[in-house]
Amino acid sequence: MGLVSAACFAELGHDITIIAIDPVKVQAINEQQPTIYEIGLDDLLKRHIGNRLRASISYDSVKSADIIFICVGTPPNTDGSANLSYIKSASALIGAARRNVPAYCVVVVKSTVPPGTTANIVCPRVLKSANKTKEEIGFAMNPEFLREGRAVADFMHPDRIVIGSMDDRAFHYVAEAYHTVDVPVIHTSLSAAEMIKYTSNAFLATKISFSNEIGNICKKLHIDVYEVMRGVGLDHRIGPQFLNAGVGFGGSCFPKDVSSLISLAKTIGEDPLILQAVLEVNKQQPNRLLTLLRTRIGNLNGKKITVLGLAFKDNTDDIRNSKAIPVIQELLLNGARVVAFDPMAAEAMRMLFPTVTYCHSAGDALDGADACLVMTEWPEFGKIDKEFDRMKTRIIIEGRRILSCNGTEGICW
Ligand code: UGA
Repeated sequence: MGLVSAACFAELGHDITIIAIDPVKVQAINEQQPTIYEIGLDDLLKRHIGNRLRASISYDSVKSADIIFICVGTPPNTDGSANLSYIKSASALIGAARRNVPAYCVVVVKSTVPPGTTANIVCPRVLKSANKTKEEIGFAMNPEFLREGRAVADFMHPDRIVIGSMDDRAFHYVAEAYHTVDVPVIHTSLSAAEMIKYTSNAFLATKISFSNEIGNICKKLHIDVYEVMRGVGLDHRIGPQFLNAGVGFGGSCFPKDVSSLISLAKTIGEDPLILQAVLEVNKQQPNRLLTLLRTRIGNLNGKKITVLGLAFKDNTDDIRNSKAIPVIQELLLNGARVVAFDPMAAEAMRMLFPTVTYCHSAGDALDGADACLVMTEWPEFGKIDKEFDRMKTRIIIEGRRILSCNGTEGICW
């Protein structure tokens, strides 16, 4: 999110310095090499590095900045709450860098944080280490709604821009940075902006788990849930997006943010029943896939199972919370031989499961297989019908609806 936002702000015409703690990443960025895979990012780096975009391990550039965006991670603690240690250290370092600078600036939290974090954690830390007042440094919260793999397009063409701020001056500073992006800008309080991000992700996750629950019911009634959701999603009050039933949501955002919201709710005496059900449905979907596999091929011991797709979704090499992980774990535990293919994520998965055989093509992975599980919605999987002829038995179970060939069965369709 930090790298994409920086490159996109440079594209909007601003002068940007990225501050990162890893010198290897800093060097790669300065050599125009993206440190993550994102469509369009390499072009932006080529265009702006050496011009109005650069990376550094030093906080020096903070001294002359008008706006400082905090984009650090907020990974989950073991109890599901958000780990704010990176937010705290960045705040103190930003404050220290501004200590003797008379000019006004705005510190903006872009990281996903629990409501209250900007006002109660970031603001006091920055002001204390800068030895300044709220009149000298402004504070804002500007959540991001970028999808991995499509983040550059999402940044340049958002549905809305949300800016929470303590006062109007800070709001106008941040709004000005986006002035060439022609979308509604919503001005809120700091904590409402923080809550908008959590609520958006929780609602999208809810749509997915809801579709999965309906899909599980449809499956037993021999109804195609995709036909159902097409009919449902065209209602403008519902909308067609994020109604794709399947093996559930993964990634570094939905599972983390829903857990963090549940954890926050519990600390204030709330028992968030819907949010807990969203995670529970999501946890059960891979088990349903495996149950379906067992009904088709019986005991898994000694069977050769092909896993197509390892990334948590298409267009990324990210395997965080990928649904392929619990499925592979269970297959191996039950003595299956797992052969896998993913256009991008094999190397990451190899670190977790070194005993899996990773192939260079879907066809090779399918050679002589007893069954195939489709775990990621890579569009190219939609065109591999012929490759299934290489299997021993044409048993293909989809965790993501991407194929339309004979012999496929879906987890909820
Ligand atoms: C998500 C949100 O979509 C972004 O708006 C947000 O900015 C981001 O989290 C974040 O908080 O940083 P992301 O996790 O990159 O983005 O990916 P999504 O495209 O939302 O997909 C998440 C998971 O849901 C994937 O595993 C995908 O396969 C699954 N999914 C998605 C479904 O199972 N069904 C659907 O209909 C849609």
